Amino acid sequence: MLENIFQPMQIGSLELKNRFIVSPMETNYCTAEGEVTETFIAYHEAKAKGGWGLIVTEDYAVDPLGKAFPYVPGLWSDEHIQGNKNLTERVHKAGGRIFTQLYHCGRSTTKEIIGTDPVGPSPIACAPNSGPTRELTTEEVGGLIEKFGDSARRAMNAGFDGIEIHGAHGYLIAQLMSPYTNKRIDKYGGGTIGRMRFPLEIIGNIRKKCGAAFPIQFRISGEELAIGGREIEDTKVMARMLEEHGIDSLNISVGASGSKRNSVVPSMVSHGWIADYAAEIKKVVKIPVIVAGRITEAMLADTIITSGKADAVAMGRASLADPELPNKAKSGNFENIVHCIGCMLGCAVRNCQFLPVRCVLNPRIGREKEYTITSCDRKKKVLIAGGGPSGMEAAIVAARRGHDVTLYEKRDRLGGQYYLAAVPPWKGEISDFLAWQVRTMEAEGVKVVTGTELTRGYVETENPDVLILATGSISKLPPVPGIDQSFVMTANEALEGKKDVGRNIAVIGGGLVGSETAHHFAVHGKKVTIIELLPEIAKEEPDVIKGFLLKSLEEYGTEIYTDTAVQKIDAQGNIHVKKDDRPVMLGKFDTVIISTGMQSVKTMQDAADLPVDEIHVIGDADETGQVIKAIDDGYRVALKL
Ligand SMILES: Cc1cc2nc3c(=O)[nH]c(=O)nc-3n(C[C@H](O)[C@H](O)[C@H](O)COP(=O)(O)OP(=O)(O)OC[C@H]3O[C@@H](n4cnc5c(N)ncnc54)[C@H](O)[C@@H]3O)c2cc1C
Ligand SMILES: Cc1cc2nc3c(=O)[nH]c(=O)nc-3n(C[C@H](O)[C@H](O)[C@H](O)COP(=O)(O)O)c2cc1C
Repeated sequence: MLENIFQPMQIGSLELKNRFIVSPMETNYCTAEGEVTETFIAYHEAKAKGGWGLIVTEDYAVDPLGKAFPYVPGLWSDEHIQGNKNLTERVHKAGGRIFTQLYHCGRSTTKEIIGTDPVGPSPIACAPNSGPTRELTTEEVGGLIEKFGDSARRAMNAGFDGIEIHGAHGYLIAQLMSPYTNKRIDKYGGGTIGRMRFPLEIIGNIRKKCGAAFPIQFRISGEELAIGGREIEDTKVMARMLEEHGIDSLNISVGASGSKRNSVVPSMVSHGWIADYAAEIKKVVKIPVIVAGRITEAMLADTIITSGKADAVAMGRASLADPELPNKAKSGNFENIVHCIGCMLGCAVRNCQFLPVRCVLNPRIGREKEYTITSCDRKKKVLIAGGGPSGMEAAIVAARRGHDVTLYEKRDRLGGQYYLAAVPPWKGEISDFLAWQVRTMEAEGVKVVTGTELTRGYVETENPDVLILATGSISKLPPVPGIDQSFVMTANEALEGKKDVGRNIAVIGGGLVGSETAHHFAVHGKKVTIIELLPEIAKEEPDVIKGFLLKSLEEYGTEIYTDTAVQKIDAQGNIHVKKDDRPVMLGKFDTVIISTGMQSVKTMQDAADLPVDEIHVIGDADETGQVIKAIDDGYRVALKL
């Protein structure tokens, strides 16, 4: 099925060995001065080793005032060339090809980041910035064109195989291209010709400084998905103009600042959702068209190309979850690939907090050197209690290092609570990761014993060198009268699917787990009511996920009571609450689901006299929280055994 994705492809003068392209992603791995770091180089080197046909780096600023993030790399100075030479040499040595993406963010930044008011084509401020946006003068626009050209020359001197001009996502070039943000009446404004003058003069300047053979790719949003923003028919015209002015390939994305939906979407959005925009653009140009957008699997990537919608695919988060995806796909090793689940937590959420980008499923991302699995000095007998994501990750890494590993799980299934996290709608892809962990443990020779609780007695009999307690967490129950009745159950029990759940359900506790549990039952035809003490539900969900969840809960007619304190559950299934200091009775419910938080399982944690040299407590057993910590704990602890 992969006959097209592994075909070589030409971008201008450059031949790519295949059509797997790493989509540009800010990492926060560079310095505040725009210098690349060893972390940044090792991260790209790992992808080059993983077999990607082309890596497009994150956006490099052409001017320090064009930074949307504090730690983006830069090419605004000749001093940036040497560090990037080290990067390109390492990538080339590993068999990769690399473009640098060049950008200026224009109005899409804040005074805190750049130290002065942001600039834009017109004085229209952008949401993250609380101050004004200063309109660029005509001369300043001309000056920025030179800066793009100079940065491209530096990129060429640093050994990059080409550049991508970032004309998407509502950054400065896109701002000038769009009637949404460009209200100018000088030569850089007005109709399509005026709005295209900035990108076309940038291309001309780069060609002048880098020559005709230097590959130039252009990233463009097929639609801005913003009220009054650019739509696909206008983009098609622009694509033709870009081709006519010497662009070698087009990389299609979507969005602008203020869009209804931007390019980085969670699991609620379909795989390959931008491909139809690319297909439209492909109808009007002859140069290669590339597309991104939740393309997570090799077979999907190949199918998009086979369907004629694009010539190559850009995969962002899929390359974080598994930098070796192309090599594994090429060797037919599909079941060994870790696929992105669109959770947003390690990548997009951390990026917006200016933290180094990570991947929930792949702790090694951004720590390629420190997190390298090496053979152990001495083979140890390792016992692990708990077959959730944390325990399984520890088992895999410990076994890969050559230890003798046995994992005990007290249930008759593996996956821990993360197995239940996969149950609600839109989260099913989590099972893909757990299935990978289960398969990989088997492949690495981990002995797995399910249906067996690891107890002190077992530990004493087995006499291990290392004990890892990955025993997770259990539901915390509030002291509410009536909670012990037969029709009351925890969210985990309800999601496990082994207890009868009636038609009319109340969920007490509208945090992440409660809201997702409510959503699950609402989608499966139940009438659901959420009762939450705080003023809002799903507080811990990232905003981008919360938006989808709240809308769907509303569509399914879920009743939501916030600022509401539960007083009692009576024998008839009524819930007595206090709302606005008044007693109210809600009901009558067939089933009441409790989701009011978790607490660590402390089994054996205080057994200081256990006959084991090394004891580690990891994941939720150490501190309840998020799976990113649980998986990272497992990996990190096993690296040091
Ligand atoms: C509905 C739901 C949605 C969630 N969604 C998200 C999300 O979107 N993002 C996120 O980051 N997190 C989410 N979580 C939380 C996430 O699932 C947990 O943080 C994660 O599973 C913790 O992993 P763990 O391996 O530490 O513990 P667990 O997954 O709890 O696994 C611990 C395992 O240990 C076993 N065990 C306990 N004691 C013993 C013993 N003595 N011997 C043998 N076995 C034992 C248990 O049976 C269990 O299988 C969600 C949880 C739920 C329930
Ligand atoms: C953490 C993160 C940073 C990103 N930074 C950039 C960037 O610097 N330039 C860019 O054009 N796109 C950026 N994107 C968007 C991606 O290139 C890509 O279009 C998007 O993630 C959708 O592809 P995916 O579903 O394969 O991840 C970023 C995405 C993520 C997740």
